[in-house]
Amino acid sequence: MNPGRRAVARAHANIALAKYWGKADDVHNVPAVTSVSVTLEALTTTTEVQFDPALGSDLLELDGRQAEGRAVERVTAMLDRIRRAARIEAHARVASRNSFPTGSGLASSASGFAALALAAMAAAGLDLDRDLASDLARRSSASAARSIHGGFVRLGAGEPGDAALPAEPVAPASHWDLRVVVAVTTKGPKKIGSTEGMGHTARTSPYYAGWIDLCQRLSGEVERAVMQKDLRALGEAAEQSALAMHACAMAARPALIYFEPSTLGCVHAVRAMRDRGCAAWATIDAGPHVKVLTTSDDADRVRQELASLPGVVDTIISRVGGPATVELEGT
Ligand code: DP6
Repeated sequence: MNPGRRAVARAHANIALAKYWGKADDVHNVPAVTSVSVTLEALTTTTEVQFDPALGSDLLELDGRQAEGRAVERVTAMLDRIRRAARIEAHARVASRNSFPTGSGLASSASGFAALALAAMAAAGLDLDRDLASDLARRSSASAARSIHGGFVRLGAGEPGDAALPAEPVAPASHWDLRVVVAVTTKGPKKIGSTEGMGHTARTSPYYAGWIDLCQRLSGEVERAVMQKDLRALGEAAEQSALAMHACAMAARPALIYFEPSTLGCVHAVRAMRDRGCAAWATIDAGPHVKVLTTSDDADRVRQELASLPGVVDTIISRVGGPATVELEGT
């Protein structure tokens, strides 16, 4: 039997402005809160998929290296859903590459699972259905559901159960020419991943109920600020969402502290820049790096200031990115 057609998909990473932290259903990976993100043009994953009846198992290459264990299991779990939908049985060869420095600790699971969903659907002969791709990506990693779309994207809170829950576009990249400056900071000891971290927070943090309440309000505020292109309102809500998520995680037992000294250094520098009239607001995911929302006019100044701080090893300026794309080889 011949191998099937090869599909290549590209997806950008995204950063949540209203954070997702907590699940309504662990088994089906349903978020407990609504999140709203901006897609980052500068951070891209490219993933190739080809189903081949000659293979005895799924093969995964990540940034040129053969992957094993948990990484392959997570890819196989998504491919199994796609095989069921397409009624095929062949295993697949998957090769995935990130445009951003490997091992920098910048989240690649969002762009990675979004690109995998689109490439595997196309290689399996399924139509390009963005809701299905986003729902499949969400089942692997909820933030990945948002990377199917470009611009500004919402993933709603869900109910426990197996119902489809895709992310929805809020506004395209052309809506607002924002900049996000990424400060890559030195890494400390290996940190607890998002899935485990949010589960631990939900079980042990006394502030978890307060966090869930706050998310209702903040996700609405973030979306309104995006629609009105009000950077101050967006920045204030996004910064509160990030710091409240971290405060909730820090109050868990044992504490979950993703901040390194350099993380806090960046947050203070951003506040000082603001005091000097610069448009800059910080957000931080489940790691030590800091992403700063700013304008096209202030982006270079923000980048230079962040680059001069102790513990900042790299800086990247990103525009707002477009939707994930896919091509079938030979078309
Ligand atoms: C802090 O999407 O990685 O980046 O669904 O368990 O795979 P799982 O979690 P994941 O969590 C992302 C958490 C976050 C905030 C966000 O992106 O909304």
